[in-house]
Amino acid sequence: MRTPLLAANWKMHKTVAEATAFTTEFLPLVAGVDDAEIVLAPPVTALAAVAGACRGSNVAAAAQNVHWEARGAFTGEVSLAMVQDAGASHVIVGHSERRHLFGEDDVAVNRKVRAVLAGGLSPIVCIGETLAEREADETAAVLDRQLDGGLAGLTADEIAAIIIAYEPVWAIGTGRTATPEQAQDAHAHIRGRLAAVAGQRAADRCRLLYGGSVKPANAAALASQPDVDGALVGGASLDPHSFAEIVGRGRPR
Ligand code: PGA
Repeated sequence: MRTPLLAANWKMHKTVAEATAFTTEFLPLVAGVDDAEIVLAPPVTALAAVAGACRGSNVAAAAQNVHWEARGAFTGEVSLAMVQDAGASHVIVGHSERRHLFGEDDVAVNRKVRAVLAGGLSPIVCIGETLAEREADETAAVLDRQLDGGLAGLTADEIAAIIIAYEPVWAIGTGRTATPEQAQDAHAHIRGRLAAVAGQRAADRCRLLYGGSVKPANAAALASQPDVDGALVGGASLDPHSFAEIVGRGRPR
C-alpha cells in the first residue's frame, strides 16, 4: 500500500512573512490528516521558517532544488546539507522549469538525485513531455529517456523509496490539466518502466504524483486513478484553503 503524497510547489512566490502566514493558517486545516504525507516546498529563503513552523506537525518541508556537490565555488547554489540544515526532508529535482529555463539535463538530474539520496532525504523527481513531443507521439520515449537518465545507477531499494512526479509540460501553469485517463496512461507506463529496470516490487512501492494544473475541482478524479498516488501542485497551492481542499480530495481512496 502506497501512502498518498500531496506536495505544494510554491516556485518563486512568498516572502518569509507570507510563507509563515500560509503555514499558520494551513496547519490547522490539515491537522486531522493521518493517511497522507503533506509537503510544502517554499522558496529557499523561507525554507527554515516553514520547516520550523511545521515541526511536530503532520506537514514536512521540501527544497525546490539543490546542487549535487557538497560545497565549493558555486555562486548562487545551495547544497544538500544546507537545505537539510534548514529543515527539508524532501527535495524537488528536475522540475520542468529547471530543465527548460535553466538547462538542466538528465545527467544533472541524476547527480542531484544521488546527492539527495546520499544525504538521506527524499527526492521528488519530475519528468514529463512537452506539447510538441506529445503531438509527435513521443511521450513514452521521453518518459523512458528521463527515467533511465535521471535514475541511472540507483538500486531497486532506492527506486522504491523515491517519489516521481509526472508533470506534462503543456499542463503546467496553463490551466490545461491532463485528463485522468491521460495521467493514468502515463503513470502506468512509468510504473512499467520502473518494473523493467528495478523489478515489480520496487515499482509497486514507488509513489507517482501527477502535476500540472491540479485544482480542488479536478484533484479527486486524478486521485481516483490506480497509479496516481498524489499530486504536485503549483498555482493552486499558494492559498492555504485551496491546497487544504486538494489534500482533502486528492487522496486515493
Ligand atoms: P501548476 O504547477 O499546478 O501551477 O500547473 C505544477 C508544477 O509546476 O509543479
